[in-house]
Amino acid sequence: MKIIAALCLVTFVYCDSNSEKVTRNVHLTKKRISTRIINGKDADIRDFPWQASLRTVEPLRHICGAAVVSARVAVTAAHCFSHSKDPKSYSLEVGSSRLSGDTGTVVQVTKITKHPNFRKVYYTNRNDIAILQFDQDIAGTSDKLATAVAIPTDDEDFSGSACNITGWGRVNAQDELSSDHLQRALTVVITKDECKNISKYDWILDSEVCVYTGSDGACYGDSGGPLTCGNVLVGLTSFGKKNCVIQFPTVYTRISKFRDWIQKFIEKTSIHAPILSLSVF
Ligand SMILES: *[C@@H]1O[C@H](CO)[C@@H](O)[C@H](O)[C@H]1NC(C)=O
Ligand SMILES: *[C@@H]1O[C@H](CO)[C@@H](O)[C@H](O)[C@H]1NC(C)=O
Repeated sequence: MKIIAALCLVTFVYCDSNSEKVTRNVHLTKKRISTRIINGKDADIRDFPWQASLRTVEPLRHICGAAVVSARVAVTAAHCFSHSKDPKSYSLEVGSSRLSGDTGTVVQVTKITKHPNFRKVYYTNRNDIAILQFDQDIAGTSDKLATAVAIPTDDEDFSGSACNITGWGRVNAQDELSSDHLQRALTVVITKDECKNISKYDWILDSEVCVYTGSDGACYGDSGGPLTCGNVLVGLTSFGKKNCVIQFPTVYTRISKFRDWIQKFIEKTSIHAPILSLSVF
């Protein structure tokens, strides 16, 4: 039943079509599957200060997670932008554990650059990463701002490591709302072979990394959010099984495969300050 398994894969962006489908399911079956990210617990933004919430401005709604990688650059999943291509339609909130309450800093997105090789393939994604740029700082020393996460410096694959996934995605596939409080789960990075074996899904690339414990995982609204091992950004939530079935691995975009591409944007934006002391003679 490999084909069925493949067709039941979904991305974890928060969107209306999902909630409609889910609402209908709830109506028909009244069946609730596992609670809680799925099976996460409340997390403090100060422990994951790079975590950000990507929102649509109209209607104002959390759609995806993101990770701040420098003062004016964040990374998220490329599949998060089906709503609109216009950066003005999106804002980012940093520095808050909760989606409600306006306790953090909200900044309008200035530029969105999807990876040039991003492709949707059935319900999965290839090269599912996008760069968000801002014309004011999103990271800094204030606790209302983010702290940048480290980008991997080598190809370490982290297999067998326990690492954290975080996000405001649904804590239950049937809930229509995102979680108001940031959730985290300690999960385990698995190898590509283990991932294929457990998921019965053959098409996992080296540019992807799977996590799996059998008791937790990402859900709608977690897309684009970070998988971190210590303070190193290892992945971004890309896709998993429909209805956030936790017996299926969650697949992340593997950051180490994109580090040169990300680095280019960080370097470009770190020379934004005008050099005021120069003059023309
Ligand atoms: C694949 O999964 C089965 C059942 O869980 C296990 O017995 C087997 O050792 C696994 N093989 C690999 C290569 O991981
Ligand atoms: C996961 O998060 C917890 C809570 O912040 C932290 O104590 C732990 O060190 C993290 N583990 C890893 C491997 O990042």
